[in-house]
Amino acid sequence: MKRIKAVYPGSFDPPTNGHLDLIERGSKIFDELVVAILRNPEKDPLFSVADRRNMLEAMTASFDNVSVETFDGLTVEYAMTVGASAVLRGMRAISDYEYELQMALMNRKLQPSLETVFMMPAEKYSYISSRLVREVAQLGGNIDCLVPELVAQRLREKMDPALKFANVEHPERKALERKIRSRKKRS
Ligand code: PNS
Repeated sequence: MKRIKAVYPGSFDPPTNGHLDLIERGSKIFDELVVAILRNPEKDPLFSVADRRNMLEAMTASFDNVSVETFDGLTVEYAMTVGASAVLRGMRAISDYEYELQMALMNRKLQPSLETVFMMPAEKYSYISSRLVREVAQLGGNIDCLVPELVAQRLREKMDPALKFANVEHPERKALERKIRSRKKRS
């Protein structure tokens, strides 16, 4: 019997509840799903590729048929290399349509045997994007319902590095807190 493997490519900076919802849906219709993080040296990401991979691996640990990888170059080439026959993408609203259509048609031009499959996340996640999550977190807003708890924690740590050591007696913690306090005083 033919097994269908799909690649779910993206930036995932950071991964959100919308991404997780889509991964769960994808894992139900594909035999194998590879969540593929683009290594894009041109962008200036909030999280390193290693951090994003780490978060996605933790978020998807309970799905037996989901793996997390990184790639560079063309999505279609990566998909062919791993033996995938589909690319999974999320479609949240009509605003996604034009960009996604363009990308799907270009990918089809480049690799006609590869199908793009669109899935819609649950309505409650349809307004969530990584860009808005970054912005809300950077401006001190509450991101608790937008991302999984481990991602929310990593975002809070990014915004305030002292939190990284909040629950542990760490020798660096006090020095770091002092540094942050004096920096805040100066600004
Ligand atoms: O999460 P994003 O940023 O919307 O994902 C965009 C992504 C990674 C799917 C897209 O930029 C991509 O496929 N990049 C790889 C390079 C490529 O294949 N470009 C041609 C796309 S038509």
